[in-house]
Amino acid sequence: MNKSVELRYGDKTYSYPVIEGSEAEKAIDIGKLRAQTGLVTFDPGYGNTGSCKSAITFIDGEKGILRYRGYPIDELAEKSSFLEVCQLLITGELPPPKALDAFRADVTRHTMLHEDMKKFFEAMPKGAHPMPVLASSVSALAAFYEQPETDDDIRTAVVRLLAKMPTLAAWAYKHSIGQPFIYPRNDLDYASNLLHMMYATPCESYRIDPVVARAIDVLLILHADHEQNCSTSTVRLVGSSRAHLYASISAGISALWGPLHGGANQEVIEMLDAIAAEGGGAERFLARAKDKNDTTRLMGFGHRVYKSYDPRASILKRTCKDVISRLGTSSELLDIAMKLEEITLKDDYFISRKLYPNVDFYSGVIYKALGIPTDMFTVMFALGRLPGWIAQWIEMRQDKETRIGRPRQIYTGATERHLRR
Ligand code: ACO
Repeated sequence: MNKSVELRYGDKTYSYPVIEGSEAEKAIDIGKLRAQTGLVTFDPGYGNTGSCKSAITFIDGEKGILRYRGYPIDELAEKSSFLEVCQLLITGELPPPKALDAFRADVTRHTMLHEDMKKFFEAMPKGAHPMPVLASSVSALAAFYEQPETDDDIRTAVVRLLAKMPTLAAWAYKHSIGQPFIYPRNDLDYASNLLHMMYATPCESYRIDPVVARAIDVLLILHADHEQNCSTSTVRLVGSSRAHLYASISAGISALWGPLHGGANQEVIEMLDAIAAEGGGAERFLARAKDKNDTTRLMGFGHRVYKSYDPRASILKRTCKDVISRLGTSSELLDIAMKLEEITLKDDYFISRKLYPNVDFYSGVIYKALGIPTDMFTVMFALGRLPGWIAQWIEMRQDKETRIGRPRQIYTGATERHLRR
C-alpha cells in the first residue's frame, strides 16, 4: 500500500504522506500544500477534513460503532456510571475504585455556586430559554476563576465545572419557571442531585425514583463524547486561541443549541406532538420532509458520520421502552416515534440517503417520559457532553501540533474598486 499520494498540478508533481490512525483510518497530510503549490483545499462543512489527531473517541459510521477510549458504548452504558466515564474520557483510563471515590467526593464538594451568581440568574429575562442562560453562566464562571495553566490548576478547574454545571442548569430552569433556586445536596449522587435541584421546592422535597436517576445517568453516558462534531470542534477552535476553558465550553454549549445539532431533541418532540395533533398519521409530514421545495426535515434522522443505525439510538430505544414499562406509564409519543421509524426505514428516499434515527430521535421521548421539561432537553445533552468537551480541550492544549484554528477561504466578492468622491 502506498504511503503517499501524488498531486499533479501544472507541470509539477508533488508528493504528500498518508498518515494512519490506530483503527486504520487514513488521511492525506497536506500540511505543506499551500506553501508548495499556492493551493488550498475547499471542503464546506469539513466533511473530508481531519482537523486533529485524537485518542479519545472512535466512530465507524458505516458499521455503527462508537467507542470511548476503546470501550464500546453499550458496555459503558450497561456497566459504568457517568462519573467513571468522565474520568475515562478525561484521563484515558477507567479509575480504580479508590480514585473514583476521591473524584466523586471532589465533584460533590464543589457543587455550590458563588452566591453572587444568583444576581446573574436574576438579571436574565423571565421565561428565558435555559440554553442561552446556561451558556452565559458557564462563560460567567471565567470571571470567578482564572484560566487554568498547570496540570493541577486544570484538574481543579475541571472538577469545578463538572460539579457546578448541574447547579447552573437547574438554576437556569428554576429561573425560567419563576421558582426559587434550590441548593445542591452532598448526600446525593450526580443524577439525583440534578433532579433534586430541578424539582424540589422550599416547601416540598422531591422523592428520587432510582429508575429515573439511573436512566438519567445512562443518558449522560450516551452523550458524553462524539469526536469532532460541531460543538466539540467549536470548543477546540475557541480553545486554540488559548481562551479560558470555561469560555471555550460556553461556546460549545451555544453551538450545541442549534436545531441541526443538539437542539434537534427538542424539535423531535415538537414534531411528534404535531403529528399526534394531526391524529398520528405521519405521511403528510414525511412528504414535506422529502419535498425539495420545503425546508422541513425529519428531525432526529440523518447524521454526517453514521450511515447506518446510530448505536446510541438503538440503546435509547431499548432504554425508552424499559423506562416507560418500569414507570408504569404509557407513551403515545413513543408509539408514534416507533411507527415513524418503521415507515421511514422502508421509504426509498431515506434508504437511498442512508438516513437512520440518530441519538436525538429517542432521547426526547425518554426525557419526556422521565418528566424532564422540553426546554431542558438540550441542556441535558450539554450536561452529558461536558466531559467530552473537557477531554478534547485538554488533548488540544497538550498536542504539540496544535496551532490556532484558522481556515482559509475562496474569496468571491468584489475585486478592487475605489470610492468615486
Ligand atoms: N430529513 C429529510 N431529508 C434529510 C434529512 C432529514 N432529517 N437529513 C438529510 N436529508 C437529506 C438532505 O436533504 C440531502 O438530500 P439530497 O442529497 O437530495 O440533497 C441528503 O439527505 C444529505 O443531507 P445533508 O444535509 O447533506 O447531510 P449532512 O451530513 O450535511 O447533515 C444532519 C447531517 C445535519 C444531521 C442532517 O441529517 C439533518 O438536518 N438532520 C435533522 C436534524 C437532526 O436530527 N440533527 C441531529 C443530528 S445528531 C447530533 O447532532 C447530536
